[in-house]
Amino acid sequence: MNMYEIITKAKHAQRLTDEEICWLVSGYVDGTIPDYQVSAWLMAVNLNPLSDEETLCLTMAMKDSGGTVDLSGVDNVTVDKHSTGGVGDKTSIIIGPIAAACGVSVPKMSGKGLGHTGGTIDKLESIPGCSTHAEFSEFIRYVNNTGFSIVSQSGNLVPADKKLYALRDATATVDSIPLICSSIMSKKLAMGADCILLDVKTGSGAFMKTAEDAEKLASLMVRTGKNAGKKCMAVITDMDIPLGRSVGNTLEVIEAVEVLKGNVKGKLYDLCIELAADMLVMAGKGTKDECIKLSEDAVSSGKALDVFMRSIVQQGGDVSFVSDYTRLGEAKTRYAVVSSSDGYISGMDSEEIGLVSLALGAGRKTKESAIDYTAGVVLEKEYGDYVRKGDVLFTLYTSSECDMAEIAGKAAAAVTLSDTEPPERSCVIKTVE
Ligand code: URA
Repeated sequence: MNMYEIITKAKHAQRLTDEEICWLVSGYVDGTIPDYQVSAWLMAVNLNPLSDEETLCLTMAMKDSGGTVDLSGVDNVTVDKHSTGGVGDKTSIIIGPIAAACGVSVPKMSGKGLGHTGGTIDKLESIPGCSTHAEFSEFIRYVNNTGFSIVSQSGNLVPADKKLYALRDATATVDSIPLICSSIMSKKLAMGADCILLDVKTGSGAFMKTAEDAEKLASLMVRTGKNAGKKCMAVITDMDIPLGRSVGNTLEVIEAVEVLKGNVKGKLYDLCIELAADMLVMAGKGTKDECIKLSEDAVSSGKALDVFMRSIVQQGGDVSFVSDYTRLGEAKTRYAVVSSSDGYISGMDSEEIGLVSLALGAGRKTKESAIDYTAGVVLEKEYGDYVRKGDVLFTLYTSSECDMAEIAGKAAAAVTLSDTEPPERSCVIKTVE
């Protein structure tokens, strides 16, 4: 086998054999195939997409490129959840505790945020003392104790994805649906949970800008998961506007706790109940309606909040902030962004809001950048609200030296006002099973 022939086949949209795909992945990971040849192959498959069979084979070869997690020591049915990333997406730290409070185990490995999207690990690490680094045996103990734990992805899990993702990032080949599928699903399958729930975001703040592409990705991932023997489903959700009212690490932790306390209802709460119920249905806990009721009860009874607090404590976190949010630290500067005219909010560009949050210090511009946990944006008004000139649209928070007037201008420009009330929009666009 040689790379020249493999690139030529991909260039002419000819199918690769399983042996060729496995040879390519192992040769790239062990360094015998150079970046420049894999780059050429990536571009060829970006232009001539891989078939379902090739995608499944690539996914399995990537999964097997390093260690895998053995969850056989976990007592209950295990359910993993993955979001393709968005702005203000704090659902994992809400639905994990809800599902665990209803009797399933949620072992989850997550990543840090990069660019305009936030990362669950950063949100957890913004809680004083909370560590997301755990030995494998400790992680299993956490999951068995409380039913829920989120830790940083272990170093030797899917090394093929680490190399391939970095190369895709540098060669403009990230936006290939089969490559995104194999990247995400190889990590999910290496994690080993019995059931996988995929939250595929679509809209301005998401990887998949159109609902059509989101659906293609969702169905390919579900087919790949099922082919690999897992229970798997996807929910396509709206990321044209930010999720909830806060963007930024401690701000999102506070909002998540407010949802778990039952103090916040609305779109974020509804989405979390829906996703938690999907996890429970997959785990065999009942029908969708029964699982919605179980999820709602887990919040109203305080059981989900209790799971969250015990999980944070076992990872070293100080949960005194749950009754006094100032214990998470406070940003040095607050800045109100006001509306310059009257109208209904008919758009709130989530990618722009994510970039504003990044400029305030809440995210990383490069993998090495430090982040300001207290930085971010609170949406004082929501999609559909009527605002008058001078009303506060956003409060910006930061402890860094920033050009606030410039950032405020960008935040204001993310909002579209119209004379007529915009149509209702629902968080869940479609379910793919
Ligand atoms: N997230 C991933 O893990 N991989 C991709 O390719 C895109 C998003």
